[in-house]
Amino acid sequence: LEPIMLPTRLPEPELFLPGTGEPSLKWGIVGPGWIAGEFAKAVGDHTAQTIHAVASRSLDRASRFAADHGIEHALGSVDELLARADIDVVYISTPQSEHLPIGLAAIAAGKHVLVEKPMALNAHDARTLADAARAAGVLLMEAMWSRYLPQASILRTLLADGVLGEIRSVMADHGQLIAPDPQHRLYRPELGGGALLDLGIYPVQLASMVLGAPATVTAVGGLTETGVDAYSTLVLEHGDGVQATLFSTITARTPMTASISGSEGTLIFDGAFYIPTSFRLIGPGHFDPTLRWSDETGLALFDGLSWEATALARFVGEGRTESPLHTLDETISILATIDDARAQLAG
Ligand SMILES: NC(=O)c1ccc[n+]([C@@H]2O[C@H](COP(=O)([O-])OP(=O)(O)OC[C@H]3O[C@@H](n4cnc5c(N)ncnc54)[C@H](OP(=O)(O)O)[C@@H]3O)[C@@H](O)[C@H]2O)c1
Repeated sequence: LEPIMLPTRLPEPELFLPGTGEPSLKWGIVGPGWIAGEFAKAVGDHTAQTIHAVASRSLDRASRFAADHGIEHALGSVDELLARADIDVVYISTPQSEHLPIGLAAIAAGKHVLVEKPMALNAHDARTLADAARAAGVLLMEAMWSRYLPQASILRTLLADGVLGEIRSVMADHGQLIAPDPQHRLYRPELGGGALLDLGIYPVQLASMVLGAPATVTAVGGLTETGVDAYSTLVLEHGDGVQATLFSTITARTPMTASISGSEGTLIFDGAFYIPTSFRLIGPGHFDPTLRWSDETGLALFDGLSWEATALARFVGEGRTESPLHTLDETISILATIDDARAQLAG
């Protein structure tokens, strides 16, 4: 193999900038909890989209959320939101256990749907949603916002250009300390708790983006007292000496970094790899120069949620029914990897 020299500069990211021809859609939020608040702020501040209505199981909570975020309509049930003709797209930010029933109802009402990660509790349920959306001709997309960040665009270009050479390894971890509390949604099996579905899905989707679906999955880890996965290491075998090693936990905050290593170079994300961050690209030699990139769009932390909202609007404008950057089949495949790992951990 002729050695590939690392480029002297990095490609420019393709950005989902607002006001670049995408339709301005009217959104309805279902599940006005923590991430919904961050999403509403990001959309209000950094997109050409409008959050037009919010539905909660309690009209009181919906009204408070609507007042906080300048949303015109507060509704006390999902049905009321779905019955409105003036809603184009529904953002589902409930616990994962509710994604399937609410997603199916939104699709049946003819709405486009952005559903928080994980799209559903397992691959089977995600396929049910995908089939329903395809039959209805509406757009269905998992809110895997990492895929729409500027850094993801550069990574796609580097991979397409073969800059890292033959990829040999993906390593990534995502750990957050969630104090043990049987009432917290992440400790509750019936709400789809556990580290893998909530946090581990980020490392798994990164490995999938770089390497595709694995040939085999091996999971080693442990459960909480409530019976959900507390921590685990996944080794994904991709054949030909290629592995992904992925860690997730709700028992400690971890570095949350990721690296992608190939025969010609290594890309290392600094800090939390799944949110707007910086990375280094280094050659295989000990003294090779390092190229550095950092996100200078000004959209830090959860402002980065705005990219996925503009992306969705652009896809709708293009007449698409799924994201070309994170297809429904890939969403299902990622959940199949997690299903396999969770089954092994449950033993
Ligand atoms: N993209 C990200 O970075 C990110 C970050 C955190 C979470 N998430 C995802 O977003 C979703 C919500 O997470 P969150 O942390 O925002 O949760 P949260 O704060 O608990 O909010 C979820 C909301 O869903 C509603 N809900 C509907 N049915 C429910 C039920 N059976 N039990 C409990 N709540 C129910 C509740 O609002 P009402 O009671 O008012 O209806 C609740 O406020 C999860 O799927 C999670 O994986 C994504």
